[in-house]
Amino acid sequence: MKNMWTCRLERKLAHQAQQQCIRDILCRSQNSTNPIIDQKHYLSFCSNDYLGLSTHPRVVEAAKQAIDTYGIGSNSSPLVSGYCDIHHQLEAALAEFTRREAVMLFSTGYMANLGVINALCEHNDTILQDKHNHASLIDGALLSRATLKRYHNINDPSLYRWLITKNRSTAAKSYKLLASDTVFSTSGQYAALSKLGKLCHQHQAFLLVDDTHGFGHSGSEGRGSLALFNLSEIRVPLLMSGFGKTFGASGAFVAGKRTTINFLRQHCRTYIYTTALSPVIASAVYTALKVIQDEPNHQQALENNIQQFTTCAAEIGLPVIRSTTAIQCVPISSITQAIRLEQYLREKGYLARILRPPTVAPSKICLRITLNALHQPKHITKLITLLHKNLQKCEQPA
Ligand SMILES: Cc1ncc(COP(=O)(O)O)c(C=O)c1O
Repeated sequence: MKNMWTCRLERKLAHQAQQQCIRDILCRSQNSTNPIIDQKHYLSFCSNDYLGLSTHPRVVEAAKQAIDTYGIGSNSSPLVSGYCDIHHQLEAALAEFTRREAVMLFSTGYMANLGVINALCEHNDTILQDKHNHASLIDGALLSRATLKRYHNINDPSLYRWLITKNRSTAAKSYKLLASDTVFSTSGQYAALSKLGKLCHQHQAFLLVDDTHGFGHSGSEGRGSLALFNLSEIRVPLLMSGFGKTFGASGAFVAGKRTTINFLRQHCRTYIYTTALSPVIASAVYTALKVIQDEPNHQQALENNIQQFTTCAAEIGLPVIRSTTAIQCVPISSITQAIRLEQYLREKGYLARILRPPTVAPSKICLRITLNALHQPKHITKLITLLHKNLQKCEQPA
């Protein structure tokens, strides 16, 4: 007889399947831009390897050499004995690159966001977040004992109200933290960073931005979205970014004032109670950072590809959410149509994934295309042609 837990899980999975919301797992071999799945070669438009650095010869060589030096893992948490010289070097290099006083590394971006928000906020504080923020920022706030308020966008009147409201329910001083993605991963659009910076500065709210989808490839010399919008640490005191995208690896960092980073090293549970980032990854990321600075051609190639995609899409009237980043989303009216489009592209050898509930609201289902520096103009042209053909067919009455 099945136990009650199995019954509950089966019931929930069946409901999810009925809504066509089960996400399939693709098992690939080879690199993420040119994967092989079930012995078929694909060109991927859903890898986050924005500059193609996961296969860059210098980055790969750095990882190989690091294995010889350190072995595979860090073998301990940072405050026990997992912190290596390469972590120190990477932190120093990132502090210089981001023009911040200090940097600390995390094993993943999810852990960075979860831990930082929890370490900073106390129960009578308020955390303000954009509704479209990455799950790790939202979960960080939910896990903290602070009050989470979610605003729709910069024009949401609630945001202003919450920023000026004092917490009267407690005699203790209440602090505010505002956390935002710089580039929203479900639309590719930038947050209103300049306005957020100004507002937070004005109302003494601590601003934490997650630049995972901008850092390393956008802005001057790849210094990220804050460089693009000319925002210094006065406006944005805390910067977080992952290494799983532009750096082609995994892990993350947080950059800020020395006091903030000193505090986080002592209080951030997802830093203290977990195995430190592998020194192999830290070495690869350190070299990737050098490649970003030495070889601007990768950034230029990505920029050209974004230009080509947005120009061609506009020319043929492809419905794409307006975005100037590597993330380009095509809204689809139904989950059935979205699944068909994904399958159609797969048959043609192109991989792109749909965003469906619960990741996005049912009204926000879309096909997300992620461009990278390794895509060639002919591939982008072909993808747009395929999308156009399929969407036109879907619009025709049956
Ligand atoms: C904006 C953003 N923040 C954080 C994360 C989590 O990073 P990681 O994959 O390193 O845990 C992601 C990854 O999907 C992301 O897109």
